[in-house]
Amino acid sequence: MSDVEYDRLYKELVELETKYPEYKLENSPTQKVGSKQQNDSEGDRKFLPHRHKVRLYSLDNTYSYDDLKLWYERIIKNYNFDVPPELVCELKIDGLAISLNYENSKFVLGATRGDGFVGENITQNLRTIKTIPEKLSLNIRNIEVRGEIYMPKSSFENLNKQQMEAGAKLFANPRNAASGSLRQLDYEITRKRDLAMFSYYGRIDSDEYTINTHSEMLEFLSKLGFNINPNYKVCKNIEEAIEYCKFWDNKRQELDYATDGVVIKINNFMLQNDLGYTARAPRWATAFKFPPEEVSTIVKDIEINVGRTGAVTPVAVLEPVYISGSTVQRATLHNFDEIKRLNINIGDRVLIKKAAEIIPKVICVTEHNKDNNKPYSAPEYCPSCGTRLIPADGEVNLYCPNSLGCPEQIKARIEYWVSKDCMDIDGLGDNIVSQLVDKGFVKSPDDLYKLTVDDFLQLDLIAEKSAQNLYNVIEKSKNPTLGKFINALGIRHVGKETSEMLARHFGSIENLKNAGLEQILEIDGIGEKIAYSILDFFSNSFNNVVLDNLAQYGVIPQTMQVIQASDTFKGLTFVITGTLSDTRDKFEDLIKQHGGKTSSSVSKKTSYVLAGENAGSKYTKAEALGVKIITENDFNNMLNNK
Ligand code: IVH
Repeated sequence: MSDVEYDRLYKELVELETKYPEYKLENSPTQKVGSKQQNDSEGDRKFLPHRHKVRLYSLDNTYSYDDLKLWYERIIKNYNFDVPPELVCELKIDGLAISLNYENSKFVLGATRGDGFVGENITQNLRTIKTIPEKLSLNIRNIEVRGEIYMPKSSFENLNKQQMEAGAKLFANPRNAASGSLRQLDYEITRKRDLAMFSYYGRIDSDEYTINTHSEMLEFLSKLGFNINPNYKVCKNIEEAIEYCKFWDNKRQELDYATDGVVIKINNFMLQNDLGYTARAPRWATAFKFPPEEVSTIVKDIEINVGRTGAVTPVAVLEPVYISGSTVQRATLHNFDEIKRLNINIGDRVLIKKAAEIIPKVICVTEHNKDNNKPYSAPEYCPSCGTRLIPADGEVNLYCPNSLGCPEQIKARIEYWVSKDCMDIDGLGDNIVSQLVDKGFVKSPDDLYKLTVDDFLQLDLIAEKSAQNLYNVIEKSKNPTLGKFINALGIRHVGKETSEMLARHFGSIENLKNAGLEQILEIDGIGEKIAYSILDFFSNSFNNVVLDNLAQYGVIPQTMQVIQASDTFKGLTFVITGTLSDTRDKFEDLIKQHGGKTSSSVSKKTSYVLAGENAGSKYTKAEALGVKIITENDFNNMLNNK
């Protein structure tokens, strides 16, 4: 999902939660700091967890100058200022947030943001970064400094060049490259990567130094030896801040680091304090996100991509251009109606746009290729296997119906099968999958588990050691979680979330396979479209052969405890508050497993409030509403029907 789309949905969620607080969930995204960056690593690294002394908050995003004005006006409304409060504008660096702790002027510990409460201790890796001082230039007992680690654009380009030469994975953008470089177990690798840090926050535990404003803090950090971004500006009011945003929106391409917006902060610390925080972000700061960049390039070709479901999508092959932090060579055209709508053809000059993290999109044609008068026409036959394409019911896409014999479809299905959210077979890249399919070694996922080291040795560029490694990673992947296994099956309309729901509900692949329509529809959030697709999948004889083979080769997903253990809590709604002997999730699971529901807010409809130590406002509200409050002990007794 693009950042823009995420923020739009997020905003809608906030509005809905304000309107209907009774439906607000405790694990709602509005209640926690996101940690998208955790996915950017080069795999699952193991670092020790570090609990931050003070939480690292997120920032609210705005996309228009009107919203920015509203944010400022809302702040002003409650105060009688003689002059409007000063703001500090800073570039929003597109890297990853970290926190550094100094004791007696020495760097002692550094950690990633993680979920804002707990991050990963990456001290050793951070020590390799030149812009992080080991020792501060002033005596100071305790200070926490936060900032953004980034990789300069030029270093990112160089790194990708080296990666390409070494046949290694390319990084999508400088942020991913920075994240991947930082979260290396071997910090000597980190040292070789060109990483830097801009510091934008300092918190002094003692009263050794009095600092009253954010801009003073930035200068203080600079004096201590930190690198601060030189482009920050103190603005008298929101109009000046908007000028700053406009200026940098035009100028940002010239910088050697990626920025995706401007962070606007109230300068005065006392006022910041007074404004405080929402559940997720400070009220005293907001981020203005730059509109996605648009660049012009030429369509060199229109290729046809065949996906794992057989859906055929046109893709524009572009004259490479640099946009929003990476070089783009392809853009999706979605379907053949879109080609007609855009009136696009090979050789045309087009405008493309890339919002952060999404596949680039062609916006419009700016200049038609005069030498090409023939309008583009959709292919009649599958470019991979030559089968006649058919339109799908109610969809604008064309399909290749040769599901089992079409090499591109097989490749796409295997690529999906090995991907992270599925069987997670690290190392089996697209190139190898492609060769395995072309050589006829693999036609369906079960074939992967028949492969021998010798088979791998027959592929191009595979030496003994990597052949053995590939064999090992496949062996190692044989016991996935049930959710991942279901996801890997690639059942139409069943993605990651639905797979997890099915896993939790049915507990084993056999239970899911034997489930009837009624049983599948029992799951909250699963409707007929999905249910029929599941039934279709398991009634297909080829799929059953694949499933049987998988089991025979020892590919056995882990079973799960089935949700509905009893109906002890049927019809009851619980609200959990305070500290219990285990995590809240554990108790929520127990309640659900025994037929009950949970809610995050107390209302007259709440049956019980399960209260642990240090219960707060929910406890008081329950008392006021006369809702029954129970202890963990009472809860266990209920569960055991005592
Ligand atoms: S201030 C409570 N300043 O943006 C205020 N953040 O979307 C927290 N970021 O997690 C952050 N440049 O990783 C701040 N000049 C800047 C920033 C900045 C980049 C990142 C940071 C934060 C994220 C929030």
